[in-house]
Amino acid sequence: MNIADVKNIAVVGAGNMGHQISLLCAIHGYKTTCTDINTEILKKAEAFADSYLPGRVEKGRLTEAQAKAARDNISFTSSLKEAVKDADYVIEAVLEVLDIKQKVFAALDKLAPPHAILATNSSAIVSSKIADATNRPDKVLNVHFFNPALVMKLVEVVQGPHVSDETRQISMELCNRLEKVPVHIKKEVEGFLLNRIFGAITREALWLLEMGVASIEDIDKAQVYGAGHPMGAFRLMDLTGIDLTYTMSMEKFKETGEPRHLPSPSVVEKYIKGEWGEKTGKGWYDYSDK
Ligand SMILES: NC(=O)c1ccc[n+]([C@@H]2O[C@H](COP(=O)([O-])OP(=O)(O)OC[C@H]3O[C@@H](n4cnc5c(N)ncnc54)[C@H](O)[C@@H]3O)[C@@H](O)[C@H]2O)c1
Repeated sequence: MNIADVKNIAVVGAGNMGHQISLLCAIHGYKTTCTDINTEILKKAEAFADSYLPGRVEKGRLTEAQAKAARDNISFTSSLKEAVKDADYVIEAVLEVLDIKQKVFAALDKLAPPHAILATNSSAIVSSKIADATNRPDKVLNVHFFNPALVMKLVEVVQGPHVSDETRQISMELCNRLEKVPVHIKKEVEGFLLNRIFGAITREALWLLEMGVASIEDIDKAQVYGAGHPMGAFRLMDLTGIDLTYTMSMEKFKETGEPRHLPSPSVVEKYIKGEWGEKTGKGWYDYSDK
C-alpha cells in the first residue's frame, strides 16, 4: 500500500478532537466518515461542519466549491461497521481509557478492510498496548494531532517496535497532505515530545498555585508575556479538558506506579466537581457567558 491508496478515512469518536480531524480530512479531499456511539455528539459534529465551512468561505479561506466538496466528502453515522467498511485509514479519537481503546481496536480489526491502517490519536496510551487487540499490529500506531486539530500544525507520528516503515511513511505522508507538520518519534516514550515538555510546565504551574505563590491568572500571564506562549497552562487545560489532565495522570500512575504522576489535589477537585474547562462552562476560568 502507498499514500495514493488512501482515499477513504474513518474517524472514530466525534468529540473535541474527532469532529475537527474528520473535517480536516474532508477539506483535504478525503471521503471521510465520522462515527460516535453518542448521537448527540454526532449531531454537534455535523452542526459544526455546517457552520465552519461557510465561515471559511466568508473569510476567503475556502471557495464556495471547496466548501461544498468538503461537505460532500464528510458523512456521519453511529454505526461503526458502516463507518469503517471501506476505510483505507482509520483515526481513533475515543475516550482516553485503555480498556475502551482495546475494545474499539478489536472491533476495527474485524470491521475495517485488512489493508487499512488503524491510528490512535491517544495523548498518552502507546499503540503497543492496543496493537495486540488486532491481527495487524504492524498497521497500528499513534498519530497524535493537537487541539484544535483544524488549526494546530504539529502531528506526532510514533513508530513503536511493532510498526512497519510502510505504515509510518504513509501516516507521515497523509499528515503532509493534510497540510500538517509531522514529526517522527522513534520510540514509544510516555507523553511523546510536546506533552512531556508541557507536562513539566503544567506540574510546575499547579505546584505554584497550590503553594499559594501566585494566582491562576498571574501564572498564565507569566507564560504568555514572559515566554511568548499563546496561552498559559491553566487556559490550556481548560481548552483541552481538565478531565483529560486527570485521566492522563491516572494512566501514567497506573503504568508506572509512581505517586509523582498522580493528579494534583486541585485537578482531582475540579474533576470531581465536573468543572472540566470550556466544554462544561467552567474550569480554572468561567465560560458560562459563552
Ligand atoms: N482534547 C485534547 O486536547 C486532545 C489532544 C490530542 C489528543 N487527544 C486524544 O484524543 C482522544 C479523544 O479525546 P477528546 O478530547 O476528543 O475526547 P472527548 O471526550 O471530547 O470525545 C471522545 C468521544 O468518543 C466517543 N466514544 C466513546 N466510546 C466510543 C466508542 N466505543 N465508539 C465510538 N465513539 C466512542 C464519546 O462519545 C465521545 O464523543 C483521546 O485519546 C485523547 O487522549 C485529545
